[in-house]
Amino acid sequence: MANLLATKTLDTIRAEASESGEHTLKRALGPLNLVSLGIGAIIGAGIFVLTGQAAADNAGPAIVLSFCLAGVACAFAGLCYAEFASLIPIAGSAYTYGYATLGEIFAWIIGWDLVLEYAFGAATVASGWAGYFVSFLQDRGIHIPPELIGTYGQKFAFYHGRWTAVSTLPAGVNLSGVEVRSALFNLVAFLIIALVTFVLVIGIKESANLNTGIVIVKVAIVLLFIAIAAFYILRHPAIAAANWHPFIPKNTGEYGKFGLSGIATGAAVVFFAYIGFDAVSTAAQEAKNPQKDMPIGILGSLVICTILYILVSGLLTGMVSYTKLSVPDPVAVGIDVAGISWGSFLVKIGAIFGLGTVMLVMLLGQSRVFYSMSRDGLLWKWASAIHPRFRTPWISNIVMGFFVAIFGAVIPIADLSTLVSIGTLLAFVIVCAGVWVLRVRRPDLQRPFRTPWVPLVPILGIVVSLGLMASLPARTWYRLIGWLIIGMVIYFSYGRKHSRVQQGAMVVTVPPGGNTYS
Ligand code: ALA
Repeated sequence: MANLLATKTLDTIRAEASESGEHTLKRALGPLNLVSLGIGAIIGAGIFVLTGQAAADNAGPAIVLSFCLAGVACAFAGLCYAEFASLIPIAGSAYTYGYATLGEIFAWIIGWDLVLEYAFGAATVASGWAGYFVSFLQDRGIHIPPELIGTYGQKFAFYHGRWTAVSTLPAGVNLSGVEVRSALFNLVAFLIIALVTFVLVIGIKESANLNTGIVIVKVAIVLLFIAIAAFYILRHPAIAAANWHPFIPKNTGEYGKFGLSGIATGAAVVFFAYIGFDAVSTAAQEAKNPQKDMPIGILGSLVICTILYILVSGLLTGMVSYTKLSVPDPVAVGIDVAGISWGSFLVKIGAIFGLGTVMLVMLLGQSRVFYSMSRDGLLWKWASAIHPRFRTPWISNIVMGFFVAIFGAVIPIADLSTLVSIGTLLAFVIVCAGVWVLRVRRPDLQRPFRTPWVPLVPILGIVVSLGLMASLPARTWYRLIGWLIIGMVIYFSYGRKHSRVQQGAMVVTVPPGGNTYS
């Protein structure tokens, strides 16, 4: 049992982090790159799609409070991530933090769990991206066959001159005489993941620069929306007042449908919009000055996105009645109301490029976690093989890219996104616990960034994350458990036997009560 809880010493981890050479990752990222990496991962399908749905179905204008609540939850976890990322600046993120504090078995669980966040996250966003891209093409009269734009069995109707998912048509719409076809494989989602994978294989510097450029476009479009919406509301205060009233619509009698419980459920839904700030920590080994810049990257991107989200959601529900926001493109609908004809075009362009960077950062994070696990001997060697010229974990990128592309093409978006949320929340719980454990065990360590009010902040992070997990459906829990069981099989059949810590290749310490040996 003790071996399962073997921890990797911080000295070993730090020594690895300071290694350099052609088989290690390149240190190319400064603080601006890191903040933009975070924003690149955060602003995506959540704000562009889920805001409208959560406002229409759960919270009404009080969606702005849901964003505040979810933002606070992420802030607790973000503060804990920042302490770890500056203390243990190595590519593995939460996985490495777990190895240093809670022991190998927990490290494995987190690493395996992070696949749910990053790989399935990228697949979820690929699915959302495909929707925007297909819509953008259809605006221009280009129709991809419906067999190739959805997951197997999803129905599309040729309605008002475009292929539209039957599930998004207004209730009771008459489809007699309308051509309806079933999708087979979401080729669009598959191809976008293939493209993002190619960019990642080419290299981190190029990827980071591309990411920064796209993030500027994405943030510019969000700011443009904020400016147009604020101007519209200033000119039409009576419309806004009517749309914002009642601010918290009365609960319908069902939990989560408006009222206070609606705000809470809305927070669980829009939580997805915040996922990604932690992905910054997976780039620690590529940061020029990780001790100082990791907290800036993590907390800076989180703060910027929280402010943008609160503004967008507040203004959107002032422009358009929340009852009309259950559409795939709520932000574009808002701009249309302001009568800016080119606005919707720009929003779609912003979403297409913006969701692209989310996939980029998620897949980047995925390969970095596998890289660390493989270097520790817990995963097969190919997962840490670095390309001699590009200096990227190229085999890992290609193998995972292939699986992610398949997931995005065959699994419905709703199933993917709930798995992503539960996986991310579990990682938050373990990271918050880890910060607390390490403060107790190693109070002496020099912490370049200190989470304030420990253990209060970690405890609040754990409680809020567990609360959000509890609000997810039972079937999501079963999938999480199934996923963790698969992980355990791999760990006991491969990882444990090849673990460098278990083989004594590294100095290890066993948690209190055990021995220290090398
Ligand atoms: N936060 C990311 C998004 O909203 C995952 O797409």
